[in-house]
Amino acid sequence: MVIVEDFAVEYLENESVYRGRYRILRKLGEGGSSVVYMAVDMKTDKPVTIKLIKEHVFDGKRANEIVGEETGILRFVNHPMIPGVVAEYDDAFVLDYVPGNSLSKVLKKKGRFEEKEAVALGCELLELLMYLHSRKQPVIYRDLKPANILLRPDGHVSLIDFGAARVMEPGGDTDTLNLGTEGFAAPEQYGNLGQTDPRTDIYCFGRTLLLLLGGKCSPELMEIIEGCTRADREDRFESCREIRAALLKYPGKRIRKKILKGTQLVFSAGALAAVISFSMANYGSVMSYAASDAQARVPAVKDRLGNAGIRIKEILKEKCGVDVDELLPPMEENDR
Ligand SMILES: Nc1ncnc2c1ncn2[C@@H]1O[C@H](COP(=O)(O)OP(=O)(O)O)[C@@H](O)[C@H]1O
Ligand SMILES: [Mg+2]
Repeated sequence: MVIVEDFAVEYLENESVYRGRYRILRKLGEGGSSVVYMAVDMKTDKPVTIKLIKEHVFDGKRANEIVGEETGILRFVNHPMIPGVVAEYDDAFVLDYVPGNSLSKVLKKKGRFEEKEAVALGCELLELLMYLHSRKQPVIYRDLKPANILLRPDGHVSLIDFGAARVMEPGGDTDTLNLGTEGFAAPEQYGNLGQTDPRTDIYCFGRTLLLLLGGKCSPELMEIIEGCTRADREDRFESCREIRAALLKYPGKRIRKKILKGTQLVFSAGALAAVISFSMANYGSVMSYAASDAQARVPAVKDRLGNAGIRIKEILKEKCGVDVDELLPPMEENDR
């Protein structure tokens, strides 16, 4: 028997009680397949999120299959940045409520993030992707974009919407369905180009970071983003760990350049002052005087620039819990 049911689920009214347990507070969002509500779980008195599948059959799948897939992955992972499953039903599931706003909403209001803010958020996301990719059976999230990332009031992020996520099958060749969001999805998510792997999330990560930056950033950071978003996944960074190391290294590289510039500046200022006071007649001795004067002053300049570097390291430690010194090998000028 074929059951044809269109829009079998009715929208829930504010203040109505769903399944005798959840008092609906407001609608949070609506996508193609689901409506998401904020509610209070009257059993625990805690705020929750209810994701209600709109149609009994969507994209050839029954609602309970959709529920089972998303909660299956959410139960498989266990991370403070991913909401836990409270309950599941035939056509809906209930998650812990995460306070805050999606990064897409924040972007609409704020325009763009400053480079160091975006890098700090990026580092957090990379930590989370590293966790997902390093499961015994790696989880590929496949739909990383600002709308699926929540910025909490404490300044940290949470990842929601595991509707497109898949557990990587050892030896599997092609995903059954190529999901993702247009504009963010990696090229391999469109065709039968084989199973998606961590490099698919790396692509979406690069696109997301670029969007957070409003498309503008330093050439050093752009180089890293390009390393994430190359069309051929063979040309991308191989792991999130590698990207994080590059992100932690690049401010160091910029600081070193500044130190170099600072030395030049001290030298030129010294030379200029000396030329003015001793006149051009003593050009040779003036230059050697300026050189020794610069030598004497460079440590103070280095100190100041060093303090800026320490502050950046502190921010990274605070925001990402990462010790830069641990990751920073003695650097060469053309280090990536
Ligand atoms: N656990 C949660 N806590 C708080 N808000 C959530 C949560 N899950 C979803 N939302 C809100 O609902 C919106 C849609 O949820 P999402 O899971 O992305 O659904 P869809 O599959 O329709 O994209 C999100 O952008 C977010 O605002
Ligand atoms: Mg979503």
